[in-house]
Amino acid sequence: MDKYKIGIIGCGYVGLITGVCFAELGNKVICHDIDKEKIVKLKQGIVPFFELGLAKMFTKNKNRLSFTISVEEVIENSDYIFICVGSPSRNNGEADTTSLFRVIDQINSYVKTYKMIIIKSTVPVGTAKKVKELLKEKIEQDLIEVISNPEFLREGNAIYDFMNPDRIVIGADSFKKAKNVARLYQTFSCPILLVSNEDAELIKYASNNFLAMKISFINEIANICERVGADISKVSYGIGLDHRIGNNYLQAGLGFGGPCLTKDLKAMIAFCKRVITYEPHLLKAVLKVNELQPELVIKKVKEVLGNLEGKRIGILGLSFKPGTDDMRNAPALKLITSLVKEGTELIAYDPKANKVAKELLKDQIEFAKEPYQVSYQSYALIIVTEWKEFLDLDYEKIKSYMIKPILVDGRNMFDNDRIQKLKKMGFQYFGVGRNLL
Ligand code: UDX
Repeated sequence: MDKYKIGIIGCGYVGLITGVCFAELGNKVICHDIDKEKIVKLKQGIVPFFELGLAKMFTKNKNRLSFTISVEEVIENSDYIFICVGSPSRNNGEADTTSLFRVIDQINSYVKTYKMIIIKSTVPVGTAKKVKELLKEKIEQDLIEVISNPEFLREGNAIYDFMNPDRIVIGADSFKKAKNVARLYQTFSCPILLVSNEDAELIKYASNNFLAMKISFINEIANICERVGADISKVSYGIGLDHRIGNNYLQAGLGFGGPCLTKDLKAMIAFCKRVITYEPHLLKAVLKVNELQPELVIKKVKEVLGNLEGKRIGILGLSFKPGTDDMRNAPALKLITSLVKEGTELIAYDPKANKVAKELLKDQIEFAKEPYQVSYQSYALIIVTEWKEFLDLDYEKIKSYMIKPILVDGRNMFDNDRIQKLKKMGFQYFGVGRNLL
């Protein structure tokens, strides 16, 4: 039997995963998107993007899932309405909440019976309060509650993360209202935090900002390692053994990318400056370290090769992390733009992201159909994304194709044994924060 009637507004990454996972938990779910084509495809059972396990779970639960382009239909057919629309970066870094407020307007005109309006989109602190002001009349008539319920889903692990959460955060202006939403998550054994809307909104930003801070921190320590002859992999392991620190998100490299960490960091910085006139010194430094990281790798290449003008360099990996074709804020873009400015001839290969990268970079660089092609006549290879398959390439073969056997491991994916093997072959190996020249 179906448990609850759930509506999802916005069938992007977060919305669709949330909808499908709620269906898996036994709920009846109706999903909305303004993109007609997307809805037609979803109705035919076609999932519009790749996420591990999603298509299978979608098919398994297709009888509990329905799709529509009408917000009204979602409101009529659900009690819990999750808003999962995007909040992209504006030019000044602020989160653009236009889509969210458009949905709120529609909700305002269509709601006639009691509904829980649950904001899952990542929105600046104070957004739920603004939403409540707009829906004031309906709230006074006891027709609407406004709840904040952020998500913590990693691309590539989103289904697992939804089904195995570390915590559920529910923000509302009363314990009773928050508890009403908590029942949707009762099958999970993790802590369920019932907090205010502002607390929930800030927990989301602070979590992503903290992860970004850990990465920039370890990258800064890696940069120090290089100058004092220490090895970041050992230093990072040593730090992480302290349970107060923990060893997750302490992998040094080219820096963080992706749709969330950079966007949320910029949004928080812009919010602090403009809305609460507070200068977020630490957050600004986190962003700065991340922006400089690819430049430091280029500096290393220049130190060995001298002028890069006209020299051919191979790039292995383009997506912001392995397991996805997502190029949003990918460190590869920063690295490539700077290398192109230096006059370098670039050829790149990514197991999944070639197509997406080509749309973004057009003919600024060449794209290879297979990994070995990036080594032909190259002066150096740079690993930008740590796809596991790069570990098992035939490096003897690669070396034989290259003009200079220089390997820059921008993600420190090679362990010491592998590095020694590469060196025996005659490679010059550079990592990030490793004194292994
Ligand atoms: C992130 C958050 O983890 C998730 O909770 C949130 O809801 C959305 O944003 P995601 O963007 O999928 O998820 O990426 P994540 O796996 O966190 O990696 C982000 C970036 O940091 C990647 O570019 C990755 O390569 C980089 N990274 C991660 C490091 O450079 N070092 C690390 O130790 C960890």
